[in-house]
Amino acid sequence: AAKPIAVTVSADKPGPVYDRRIFTQFAEHLGNGIYGGLWVGDDKSIPNTNGFRNDVVAALRNLKVPVIRWPGGCFADEYHWREGIGPKAQRPVKVNTHWGGVTEPNTVGTHEFFELLRQVGAEAYVAGNVGNGTPQEMAEWVEYMTAPAGSLADERAKNGHKEPWAVPYFGVGNELWGCGGNMRPEYAADVTRRYATFVKAPAGTKILKIAAGANVDDLAWTEAMMKIASNQIDAVSLHYYVHPAGGWPPRAPAVDFDEAGWADALAGAFRMDDLITRHSAIMDKYDPQKRIWLAVDEWGAWYAQDPGTHPGFLRQQNTLRDALIASIHLDIFAKHADRVKMTAIAQMVNVLQAMILTEGNKMVLTPTYHVFDMYKPYQDATVLPISIDAPSYTRDKWTMPAVSGSAVRAKDGSVHVGLSNLDPNRANTVTVRLAGLNARGVSGRILTAPAINSHNSFTAPEVVKPATFNGARVKGGVLTVDLPAKSVVMLQLR
Ligand code: AHR
Repeated sequence: AAKPIAVTVSADKPGPVYDRRIFTQFAEHLGNGIYGGLWVGDDKSIPNTNGFRNDVVAALRNLKVPVIRWPGGCFADEYHWREGIGPKAQRPVKVNTHWGGVTEPNTVGTHEFFELLRQVGAEAYVAGNVGNGTPQEMAEWVEYMTAPAGSLADERAKNGHKEPWAVPYFGVGNELWGCGGNMRPEYAADVTRRYATFVKAPAGTKILKIAAGANVDDLAWTEAMMKIASNQIDAVSLHYYVHPAGGWPPRAPAVDFDEAGWADALAGAFRMDDLITRHSAIMDKYDPQKRIWLAVDEWGAWYAQDPGTHPGFLRQQNTLRDALIASIHLDIFAKHADRVKMTAIAQMVNVLQAMILTEGNKMVLTPTYHVFDMYKPYQDATVLPISIDAPSYTRDKWTMPAVSGSAVRAKDGSVHVGLSNLDPNRANTVTVRLAGLNARGVSGRILTAPAINSHNSFTAPEVVKPATFNGARVKGGVLTVDLPAKSVVMLQLR
């Protein structure tokens, strides 16, 4: 039998808070992310409340989604908020030039977004238009949403909402290096300073300003943003997607992959650790106190669109592989919780690595959803340092640790340890030394499935779902875990 993998959790050396905003989700006007996925309007055949599907909202409420980022993405930098307020019949119908060239009815606008937030119980992360909007337009949107008085507040009241809304997070554009305006870093940093100047919170409130950050390993971007704009902003974002099979454009199939495709994608997920380390090192130079967050506000797997789906809708199935991609990321964010205070998986419903897929009145929860559910106790918990002496799992040219993990002490005092076995062929036994913790019992949940590409569909929605885990025991301060191949396990210690 293989030697057990030695893990130490230092419950006696509590680290930073695992911010609940790490579980932020991104909902863009893209494909069926909003229309069909969240919003069904007055379609009576799909039960809804004020236009938003009851089934999807209930599933999101269960996840305790803390924040929703909206309306884009690339969509944000050509979104004009005035087109999405007032009587729906009078709102202009535009072309969504980024995503599929379909018409955008503007039926979901500012008021509808805040209704979604109310139903889900989440806070607003609004992404402003720097690309083809003006600082004045941005300032007026912020005023429309947040001002207690004045003519924009009156207009908001006339449109149905007297009280100002809270906008705790505001994005100063998106991907200014690309779809947000193809800017060079120094220019983008200057533009960010200028636009951020006019994002003003009413007295007694705060709006945290998030600068559009780097693409993958563009360290020069982070350097310029920090050097030039750090006195105007509160966070810098980072976008990194896992693209197996050779990068951009996305070409790997979401379901029809073999073990090489599994290893390629999981190695891609591990890359996030190195990226955060390198971007954070630059941020440390300019902000050693770590006032400014690194907000990884787009992450996840991006495959070729599912066969037969609308071009530009980024619709992809979600398999057990995606569950592991999610758990690896959530573990990496624990390691960097001193700087990473917000991340947003892309995206919420029907787009990229989605939590939820819908088709007409049907809904299915993806393996990624279940991982987010299992990691819920991490929200605002305290990170406990973990060391994992794992052997490598290697397939073809991809090598990575066979086990990923993280640990936290939740707000109620309970300790949670997440462990993922990346090896699709071998179970691994893990012995966890619990320094500073006198645990008497353990319970847990496991997510695994028969095949690496097992997934949930509308006809078989429960192929991949969490089950009670009985493979862990504690004795004399040591936790022993029999970790099945290709699995995510979340343990709770008593
Ligand atoms: O999430 C899809 C797209 O990916 C977003 O609109 C953009 O910001 C990124 O390139």
